[in-house]
Amino acid sequence: MARLVEVTDVILRDAHQSLMATRMALEDMLPACEALDAAGYWSLECWGGATYDSCIRFLNEDPWERLRTFKKLLPNTKTQMLLRGQNLLGYRHYEDTVVDRFVEKAAENGMDVFRVFDALNDTRNLKRAMDAVKRTGKHAQGTICYTISPVHTVEKFVDMAQRLVEMGVDSICLKDMAALLKPQPAYDIVKGIKEKCGEDILVHVHVHSTTGVTLVSLMKAIEAGADIVDTSVSSMSLGPGHNPTESLVEMLEGTGFETKIDLEKVYLARDHFAKIKGRYAEFLTDFQGAETEIFKSQIPGGMLSNMESQLKQQGMGDRMPEVLAEVPKVREDAGFPPLVTPSSQIVGSQAVFNVMMGRYKVMTGEFSDLMLGYYGKTDAEKNPEVVAQAKESAKKEEITVRPADTLKPEWDDLKEKAFALEGNNGSDEDVLTYAMFPQVAPKFFAERHKGPLNLGKDPSAPRLAVDPSHPGFLKQPIDYEITVNGNKKKVTVAPV
Ligand code: CO
Repeated sequence: MARLVEVTDVILRDAHQSLMATRMALEDMLPACEALDAAGYWSLECWGGATYDSCIRFLNEDPWERLRTFKKLLPNTKTQMLLRGQNLLGYRHYEDTVVDRFVEKAAENGMDVFRVFDALNDTRNLKRAMDAVKRTGKHAQGTICYTISPVHTVEKFVDMAQRLVEMGVDSICLKDMAALLKPQPAYDIVKGIKEKCGEDILVHVHVHSTTGVTLVSLMKAIEAGADIVDTSVSSMSLGPGHNPTESLVEMLEGTGFETKIDLEKVYLARDHFAKIKGRYAEFLTDFQGAETEIFKSQIPGGMLSNMESQLKQQGMGDRMPEVLAEVPKVREDAGFPPLVTPSSQIVGSQAVFNVMMGRYKVMTGEFSDLMLGYYGKTDAEKNPEVVAQAKESAKKEEITVRPADTLKPEWDDLKEKAFALEGNNGSDEDVLTYAMFPQVAPKFFAERHKGPLNLGKDPSAPRLAVDPSHPGFLKQPIDYEITVNGNKKKVTVAPV
């Protein structure tokens, strides 16, 4: 009998984050929900830092309302989110009770699976969020960020998996955000985890398709025992996105592995997203092919474009080759952090400064903090000379404790500040929005009553939720209030 491989579809979060700058409005996802819910997925990833940020920054949409709507429309499938450990969905470390409150509220509003990661793979930064998830009875998934460096061996990743299992996680995710995970290491790491942590521990593999090698990596991971893999509906796949769900299902035919995905249902979702995609043309990534340069440079695409624009602002656009050569040196000095948000930006900016001003003549505050342990512990030793320079530059001491242990209780203070803002609704959810995005929250609270914006502009493409000729795939009609080009409308999304 064939062994079952479960599938998580990332269409409602990572797919549009990777392909259209996270701009997809909830309105354009609703009509696909019934088909997605019936397709037989293990879970649907639908919430995370970038979608939350985009909701309040661009779409005038309450991210909590989005979550509740997904929960309502996906009754048969687990909802899943990506949580940045002690950073929650923001860009700094939060004190423990804020972490607890966030997890409780997310669970209460409908979140089922919490994929928790830390940019430095410092498990101390995952523990509090994991414990909070366990208390809610929801699924706690511990994450290993995959990266390549002289210190990142198969054993190192397997050891981390072991520590996550000891922490009591319900499953382990091997997360490859830069599409660096080649087939053989994918096999070796998953095999290593199964051998060391036991066959029973669920292993979930997340890869992007950027480099063109990772559909094969998924196959090898499955052969090594991976239980769940991440893919995306084909009309929103490939390029810097993910491998197509339908391709994975077809690929497994005759291999001794099978999914329980109903392709007919996936086709309905595929057609829907194919139709609305064109409306977001101005946000769609130009890059649709395969990018293999990253195997040489180890520098993810997003980080490259950040460094380029920093250099250009200084009129030094021609010095990119020097910066590219500087990145590995800076990364080594910093103890080989994986290059993922925020460490990719921190390392990239410092490399730019080194080239412009001389090595470590000017140190960014963030880089000093990274060198002094304020983001956590890195996998390799840091360069002690650069640590000494960071102390001098930042005028503070190195810490070796968990960064959040240096923070004082902050919930009451955050609450007071959030509740002083016009348009706040007095909920803990609003306090959390303010805590994570203090610059954006005031404008969002003040303008929330105007209702969501849809930035999909191409007039030639149909507006699904407001166009009765494209009613979607729902069983029950749902009423939804939206704002289209400044006009508030009550919309009923009707069944086919
Ligand atoms: Co991803």
